[in-house]
Amino acid sequence: MCGIVGYIGERDARGILVEGLKMLEYRGYDSAGIALLVDHHIDILKTPGKVSKLDAMVGDSQPASIGIGHTRWATHGEPNEVNAHPHKDCSGNIAIIHNGIIENYLALKIKLASMGHRFESQTDTEVLAHLIEEFYRHQGNLEIAVRTALKEIDGTFGVVVMASDQPDILIAARRGSPLVIGLGDSENLIASDASALVKHTRKVVYLQDNEIALLTKDSVSLKSLDDKLIEREAEQLTFDVEQIEKGGYAHFMLKEIHEQPETVLNAMRGRLLEGEGVSKMGGLQDVADNIFNAKRFVITACGTSWHAALVGKYIIEQCARIPVEVDYASEFRYRDAVLLENDIVWAISQSGETADTLAAVREARKKGAPAYGIVNVVGSTIARESNAGVYIHAGPEIGVASTKAFTSQLVVLNLINLLVARGKGVLSADKGREIVAEMQRLPEKIKQILDTAGNMERIAEEFKDSKNFMYLGRGVNFPVALEGALKLKEISYIHAEGYPAAEMKHGPIALIDQNMPAVFIALRDSTYDKVLSNIQEVRARRGRVIAVANEVDDHLRGMVDYIIEIPKTLEMLSPILSVIPLQLLAYYIAVKRGCNVDQPRNLAKSVTVE
Ligand code: AGP
Repeated sequence: MCGIVGYIGERDARGILVEGLKMLEYRGYDSAGIALLVDHHIDILKTPGKVSKLDAMVGDSQPASIGIGHTRWATHGEPNEVNAHPHKDCSGNIAIIHNGIIENYLALKIKLASMGHRFESQTDTEVLAHLIEEFYRHQGNLEIAVRTALKEIDGTFGVVVMASDQPDILIAARRGSPLVIGLGDSENLIASDASALVKHTRKVVYLQDNEIALLTKDSVSLKSLDDKLIEREAEQLTFDVEQIEKGGYAHFMLKEIHEQPETVLNAMRGRLLEGEGVSKMGGLQDVADNIFNAKRFVITACGTSWHAALVGKYIIEQCARIPVEVDYASEFRYRDAVLLENDIVWAISQSGETADTLAAVREARKKGAPAYGIVNVVGSTIARESNAGVYIHAGPEIGVASTKAFTSQLVVLNLINLLVARGKGVLSADKGREIVAEMQRLPEKIKQILDTAGNMERIAEEFKDSKNFMYLGRGVNFPVALEGALKLKEISYIHAEGYPAAEMKHGPIALIDQNMPAVFIALRDSTYDKVLSNIQEVRARRGRVIAVANEVDDHLRGMVDYIIEIPKTLEMLSPILSVIPLQLLAYYIAVKRGCNVDQPRNLAKSVTVE
């Protein structure tokens, strides 16, 4: 999604803006630009393509102590120079950058054009620049002009505005697209996420929906859009720059795959009570009774987070014996779902900003159900709008393909299962202690898998030119088959489908031949014998089989072409291990195909628009 950076202070804004945009590249974009206020004139530099192209242009510009920068992921109008942000008004006196969608932009554009405004781009954002110009011309106060203009807007915005005749202020406002302010010494910054700020300051203030901020180099004032002053404590960022850097790995995705022993540990740190065989999570303490009295969980999410939700369904229904429904957030938000008394809606989101998932949270609350978040990004909108929730503590996930967030989501879902199953008395203390003990062994078991990464790389070499893949699993590992397929398709652009292994014979097996590799998750669990039969079905049609397995014997070795052996664990925990080889397989195939692993084409790290 789009990235925003703004600076006002005593240093040269140019490098700070470009550096900040580089820290936001992972969000996915297709053009970039900055606006600088130089001698009461706004210089705008923008280009399609990467921030590196913009960086080369900035070298010839004049230094400035105030400026705004943007990376755009096209929603209205193709990715070209004209449509890139910043956008300005007719006079060139106002420049703005914007994340979000202005749904009534066309009606506003027609009205403004009839008043003599001239437009250069096809974007919705440019309409806002002219709307602000219209009000600024009459009111002469930039903050009031921005506030008045935003009241005309239907839709979402994270917007930063500057004016050539107001060299000492930046105005920022948000509704639906995150903005965070970085507080410095004789300087202040603003960005769409904190990774663009952390190099300069760890003191931040999060803007919330329908709020507007006025930044000078020495002060920040917050108001609601209906002009009420807001006092808000600054917060301290808990991560630092090196956590955002690649740390010696070729790609962020590979770094994040290898971080999983630590991030899985962090997800459970301080949350397991060994003696009682139970879990505790601070963010759920106040709602524990609601959780124990729940008659049903509805888990809503998108993409990889939806796969985690599906794993959650299997483990919570099997162990805590609570019915669990899993819903794509994009469907849940519009299907007028029936929510019953004692339903609890859980929203899983790494970014905490996915528009569909946020809308699902709002829909649940509108229907009177509590919505609890399972989120990675602290202070994100979904985290703030949920009634309660649990942070997964995976740290910044930069690679567009989600990896460490997925396994941490699974850890938290297991913690929730443990809390509920023990709280409802359907799980004994002994069994609880066994689960706790096995969860504590997971980081070491993940390390063992990571140490065999060379095996996945060799298999990747064999299959890097495949045109299609089938991923198959049963039970709690069926969602892992879906996740393995998603990982492969989203970074290598190879078509891949995940299926319940038994479902193959109801159609997909027609696809099997020597050119269609099938990846099976064939662990020694309650589904093992059935999976072996499914492997035979593929082999009988000359399909090549890659099996993720444990306690491998000669019988299995004789049945498949490639084995990826992983350590054994409890069935309910096994997806946390079985997904790791699939992450690595997808990664190595994508690298061998020369794909942009961290920023795959067409994708964004956080889909903050519908
Ligand atoms: C996963 O690899 C994808 N990048 C994507 O499906 C992602 O999981 C989805 O957009 C949901 O994002 P969220 O967890 O931040 O809400």
